[in-house]
Amino acid sequence: MTRMHSFDRRSKRLSWKVLAYALNRIRMDPPLDHPVDASVLRTRAGRTVTDDGIGGPEALRIWREVLAPACISVDHPRFFSYVPAAPTEAAGLFDVAVSAANVYAGSWQEGAGAVFAENEALAWIASLAGLPEGAGGTFVSGGTAGNLSALIAARWAWRDRAGGRLDRTRALIACSGAAHSSVAQAARAMDADVVPVPVDERGRMDGDGVRRVVEGLDAAERERICAVVATAGSTNAGVIDDLSGIGRTAAGIGAWFHVDGAYGGAALCAPSRRHLFTGVELADSFIVDPHKWLFAPFDSCALLYREPRIARAAHTQRAEYLDAIHVREEWNPADYAHHLSRRPRGLPLWFSLATHGTRAYTEAVETTLRTTEQAARMVTCAGHLRLVMEPELSVLLLERIGWAADDYQRWSDDALASGLAFAVPTSWNGVPCLRLCIVNPETTPSDVAMVLETLR
Ligand SMILES: Cc1ncc(COP(=O)(O)O)c(C=O)c1O
Repeated sequence: MTRMHSFDRRSKRLSWKVLAYALNRIRMDPPLDHPVDASVLRTRAGRTVTDDGIGGPEALRIWREVLAPACISVDHPRFFSYVPAAPTEAAGLFDVAVSAANVYAGSWQEGAGAVFAENEALAWIASLAGLPEGAGGTFVSGGTAGNLSALIAARWAWRDRAGGRLDRTRALIACSGAAHSSVAQAARAMDADVVPVPVDERGRMDGDGVRRVVEGLDAAERERICAVVATAGSTNAGVIDDLSGIGRTAAGIGAWFHVDGAYGGAALCAPSRRHLFTGVELADSFIVDPHKWLFAPFDSCALLYREPRIARAAHTQRAEYLDAIHVREEWNPADYAHHLSRRPRGLPLWFSLATHGTRAYTEAVETTLRTTEQAARMVTCAGHLRLVMEPELSVLLLERIGWAADDYQRWSDDALASGLAFAVPTSWNGVPCLRLCIVNPETTPSDVAMVLETLR
């Protein structure tokens, strides 16, 4: 054991301090906090990485007093920007346990127990989506990694079907402008192209739209289509594409059907919204991020395939030193995405699901949906505000009548600086507006009312 590998007796108490800090952070009502300039942090934190080390107690003090307060608390009930996260206590605590065990969960050989539990959580998501028996996948770091891995599998299937004829042809991915930016990014990473599909006034893509775009392509271009990507809960507006129409069209043209439910997929467990997802069961691949609306800590994206063997063919890494992993037919999570070493990042979700049961998830998601509905009613009743569209899920888009982009930005900066709320502006059809994304069951209608009041 080197000097570094365990605390000396004097520092033993530090173990408890670190654990006590973690427990307290998981349980506390966090302050909102805000970013701080690097120059200020440099002065306040001083030099932290030195030849002899500053000692654990001092490093912990600097984290607690200087650095942690310079991070916005994503689990604050008035964190409305982007897609927040509100991990359960069970999920947060178990994340600590997962780090403690440091299980290698890329292979069954090394991480069988962890992989088994992750697969239990994946099976719940697959059953919510109505994917067939045999569907499976893995957890990756986030929606961006999930979309890329799914599209790599899609391209593999497309080229495999062509028997080598398209191995040097750039693939084409059909999706709407409302698809998450990570889809275009995946296309860039894969040296593929995107063909845009028009949407309706809510930003919803449907099967006919995809069909018309395909019919408008010449035969050579049409052959390049390897995947159609639908969004189940657009990030900007929370709108779900026409999954059954798109799924049928994709099948009709022989293209892979990928459904990006990174944000919205959580609402599959909400009976009030389940009908909006009809057609998701047709997906060849599907993602949902537990670190968004399924109450797990970062970083976690559940990536599922209808036919995992295709993903395996696309993603399995071969090397002499890895041969031992493949001696037996076992479930190796490394084979289902663009990764190899991985932590069992699905375990916090699994532990929380096992602890509370799936019904608690349904109730928590329904709570956030009800809060969003009430918030929408408040906006419609307020003379100074305009609801941009009725929310389908838990994203609220609203305009402050008479405000320009600068006004929204100023208000947003002030709201964060005062500790009221974190809500960054967005735009809809080029018109600036405010976007509130509600995924925290602790967010109450009063929290929203406080924010709307300051928009006068
Ligand atoms: C629909 C959708 N897809 C993909 C992503 C990317 O997810 P991540 O930030 O976990 O990579 C997001 C993020 O908000 C999203 O809303």
